[in-house]
Amino acid sequence: MKAIRLAVAAAALLPLAAGAVISSQSKAGSDGASPIYGVTIPEGYRSWELVAPALEGEPLNELRAIVGNDVAIKAYRAGTLPFPDGSILVKLAWKRTPSPDFEPASVPGAATTVQVMVKDSKRYPDTGGWGFGRFIDGKPADEAQHQTCFACHEARVKDRDFVFTRYAP
Ligand code: HEC
Repeated sequence: MKAIRLAVAAAALLPLAAGAVISSQSKAGSDGASPIYGVTIPEGYRSWELVAPALEGEPLNELRAIVGNDVAIKAYRAGTLPFPDGSILVKLAWKRTPSPDFEPASVPGAATTVQVMVKDSKRYPDTGGWGFGRFIDGKPADEAQHQTCFACHEARVKDRDFVFTRYAP
């Protein structure tokens, strides 16, 4: 009898323990969230589809790759504007470095930033429905940097739902 009661008690505790693990994980995630917007680095983004590459000249001198999740890629292909809620765009960036194997070629050097735009029109009504995050070594940049994001995207590409990158076929 006693053994059965113990087993029941242990079974009842199990889901609690599992829940505790999940909530401590999501807390760690929100610690790594961007100021103002609370955007985090989306899981699995490194295997998302390429939207287009980009090259930025001096002083940054960076190679970039913009990737999107399925929702964003579908919207690009269909020409859907504005992007639907759930769209996520990620821009990876590296220092542009001459190839050690073939001089005229440039290759990615050190990683510099990972930048994220998340479409959630209810959560971000004041910034075109987009939440922004800039991460350096996996950690969010400061609030001052996040105050610049929407202003630049709004000033130049408001008519394309605040998104610069066009799909490279
Ligand atoms: C001075 C202008 C400027 C500012 C400020 C800026 N961006 Fe951008 N952003 C660009 C340009 C230009 C692109 C196009 C890709 C490229 O050339 O790197 C871009 C592209 C992006 C993309 C890929 C989707 C797209 O619109 O093409 C993301 C994600 C992004 N920026 C996030 C951010 C975040 C987060 C911040 C703030 C921390 C920010 N940006 C601030 C100019 C800006």
